[in-house]
Amino acid sequence: MCGIVGYIGSQRAYDILIQGLKRLEYRGYDSAGVALVDCDGKMSVHKSHGKVANLENVAQAGNINGTLGIAHTRWATHGEPSDINAHPHVSQSGMIALVHNGTIENYAVLKKVLTDHGYEFKSETDTEVLVQLIEYIKLTSSCSLLDAVREALLQVEGAYAIAVVEQNDPDTMIVARKSSPLVIGVGDGETFIASDATPIVGYTDQVIYLKDNEIGVIKRNEPLQVLSLSDNKPSTISIQKLKLSLAQLEKGGYDTFMLKEIFEQPATLRDCLRGRIVDGCSRVTLSGVDLNKERFMKAERITLVACGTSWHAALIGKRLIQDFCKMPVEVEYASEFRYGNPVLNEKDIVISISQSGETADTLAAIQLAKEKGAFVYGICNVVGASIPRNTDSGTYIHVGPEIGVASTKAFTGQVTVLTLLALSVGQLRGAVDQETLSTVLSALSKMPETIEEALKVDNEIKTLSRVFAYAHNFLYLGRGYNYPTALEGALKLKEISYIHAEGYPAAEMKHGPIALIDHDMPSVVIAPNDSLYDKIISNVQQVKSRGGAVVAIVSKGNTSMSDIADYCIEIPNVPECLTPIVASIPLQLLAYYIAVNKGKDVDQPRNLAKSVTVE
Ligand code: F6R
Repeated sequence: MCGIVGYIGSQRAYDILIQGLKRLEYRGYDSAGVALVDCDGKMSVHKSHGKVANLENVAQAGNINGTLGIAHTRWATHGEPSDINAHPHVSQSGMIALVHNGTIENYAVLKKVLTDHGYEFKSETDTEVLVQLIEYIKLTSSCSLLDAVREALLQVEGAYAIAVVEQNDPDTMIVARKSSPLVIGVGDGETFIASDATPIVGYTDQVIYLKDNEIGVIKRNEPLQVLSLSDNKPSTISIQKLKLSLAQLEKGGYDTFMLKEIFEQPATLRDCLRGRIVDGCSRVTLSGVDLNKERFMKAERITLVACGTSWHAALIGKRLIQDFCKMPVEVEYASEFRYGNPVLNEKDIVISISQSGETADTLAAIQLAKEKGAFVYGICNVVGASIPRNTDSGTYIHVGPEIGVASTKAFTGQVTVLTLLALSVGQLRGAVDQETLSTVLSALSKMPETIEEALKVDNEIKTLSRVFAYAHNFLYLGRGYNYPTALEGALKLKEISYIHAEGYPAAEMKHGPIALIDHDMPSVVIAPNDSLYDKIISNVQQVKSRGGAVVAIVSKGNTSMSDIADYCIEIPNVPECLTPIVASIPLQLLAYYIAVNKGKDVDQPRNLAKSVTVE
């Protein structure tokens, strides 16, 4: 989703901003722009729809000087992707430029007021309203840019991270945030700002995460000032050390980030599990649970909230918690939960799952759960993101930065942490017997090697992917633990190949989707050796007898499926509750190669954003 970068220092801002925008490309965007202020007090604004490379072509034909600048990648919400709607937006006099991530909900009301005062708007965006409002306040109150920004933000409803510069002040940048992330990197005589830390890596490892309702005043050669929006008083500044490295942000020899991230999973799961399985695979230790034993002991219900792939992980989490904690569990889309008047009290635990930790709906769900007295736990990947900062406790999945827009290693990390969490709470509540605990933990501790084994189907799947050049629709079927795996497999395929794919509980298929099955509609069936294997066999037969091709994901050594399915892909044998982690590997590869065969940009699929910071 939208990305912001800003720089003030002694280097040419343009180079740093363009590199920063390229590092933010993974978030998803449709246009980009940059505003530069040079020391003679001139401002140059360059914008272009499409890729950052288009912006470079446009900008390099003009003035790119200046050691202060702000830049943006836009993901359209108000107004189509176009040069005009791209940020930065500039005030009517041309003096103030602003970039914005988020949405101004009351923009129509504000626009009407400004139009009545003679302001004209060039774009269809909500953002342009904000920059015009700042200028209007500045001119009518003869105040400083800082005061005008503050006053404007007090009138704005919605979510924002913004950066503002002014033509006649090449020494100042104002930033602010509410419900949209903003990181400030403090260098030696230079300051960086960005929506996430990726553009800052390599320049400085000293970062400040601006909090909601804070304004930062960044002045050349002066210490950073952070003020509270409500009372204008200085806030405490906490500088943190950034642990991201440049190597983690690169492709490491793979063609795409997605392929790198698929193949990284043995290593990422090793990092995810490190130190959490103890005493010879007989016990789990998760500090988030260990420090809140009382809460987990007394809890009467757990509700999992998430979006997209993280929601699929939550569905698997439900099965894990039911099986190992023997307590009621609900799973909700965060976007439905937040408006669904959930009935919660202090005996409820709400677990939010999010790779980015910035998903707007998930953040709102957390807020609501807290207001209702629930204990809120976060499962997140990005260290220091908004979700871990707004939850009562939680666990990081520690799989490193996920750059490919389609989530892969984060999903397996989330399911791994959910398994650890369910076992940890189960052991605490005495709901899981020691033999089951040790069996699952022992298999989980070997998961990195198991995934290495699972990845060996790479070539086989590459070949298989070519068979399906004809398909415009796919059905993904699974049961029990692997119904969510089917949903996830289908989501991966549609996200990156733009082929319609539906995930369905295999047995439910006969209540409707079976009508779709014919020679042109292949099905991918997740059928490991589990308690429902015999049942799924008959579902496969139902598909076959209607002429549909079947790819079956089966456990190593399976002999019965090859007589029925057209293609069998083997996965290593693991306990039933761990099959989703292993089965998701061939599904990720299948989606990947089908998309690559179709020539799609798998790392940055159209219309998608890595971090969905709007409703
Ligand atoms: C799918 C995907 C999305 C995200 C969803 C939630 O591959 O990446 O569906 O899972 O946008 O994002 P997070 O997990 O960051 O809250």
